[in-house]
Amino acid sequence: MPSLIIRQESVADVSKIYELTKSAFGRAPEADLVDLLRADDALIFSQVALLDNQIVGHAAYSLVSITDADASHYQPALGPIAVAPSHQRRGIGSALVRAGLEAMVEAGYGLLFLVGHVSYYPRFGFQPAQPLGFSSDYVEPGGPHEHFMVAVLDARAPDSVRGHVRFHPAFDAV
Ligand SMILES: CC(C)(COP(=O)(O)OP(=O)(O)OC[C@H]1O[C@@H](n2cnc3c(N)ncnc32)[C@H](O)[C@@H]1OP(=O)(O)O)[C@@H](O)C(=O)NCCC(=O)NCCS
Repeated sequence: MPSLIIRQESVADVSKIYELTKSAFGRAPEADLVDLLRADDALIFSQVALLDNQIVGHAAYSLVSITDADASHYQPALGPIAVAPSHQRRGIGSALVRAGLEAMVEAGYGLLFLVGHVSYYPRFGFQPAQPLGFSSDYVEPGGPHEHFMVAVLDARAPDSVRGHVRFHPAFDAV
């Protein structure tokens, strides 16, 4: 079994990331989203997973704003994340999430948000964000909220930052 390599994207990867994301989701909007974030210089971090020199996974990171009565803060969000359909359920998505968490800690961030499957992300330490004092346009008042999640990277962060979390406007099109 060849070993998995995870590294930051390069210019040569861009079209492959597009095709991979489109095939993983079975539609184009998430692939378009990655391109829109990159075009707006909003892709703060973009990791590819390679097996045998082929891109088999990708994870995108952009900043969200967190606004309370006094100020706005900025922290990262993970998404979209995609693994080639032929390579899913072999741990590649997990390796990408773990590498991203490490990279965000290294970069000094205290929180990592995402909107995603409630059965997948808790294993990496993500938990529902709303009970910690974060709201989002992705949560209807009184509706389900568990898909809006956060990983606390710095235990002090939720105490110092709370408020409404806004993803990059490109997410509105997905
Ligand atoms: C979600 C995704 C990135 C996971 O990557 P992966 O390499 O297949 O995942 P891993 O092999 O690391 O983990 C497998 C586990 O994830 C679970 N899983 C995979 N896709 C899932 C999904 N869509 N919803 C919930 N759980 C999922 C599997 O059930 C498996 O769980 P188990 O270990 O308890 O059996 C990948 O399946 C994918 O690209 N899906 C299509 C795009 C997508 O839905 N992206 C995420 C949007 S939030």
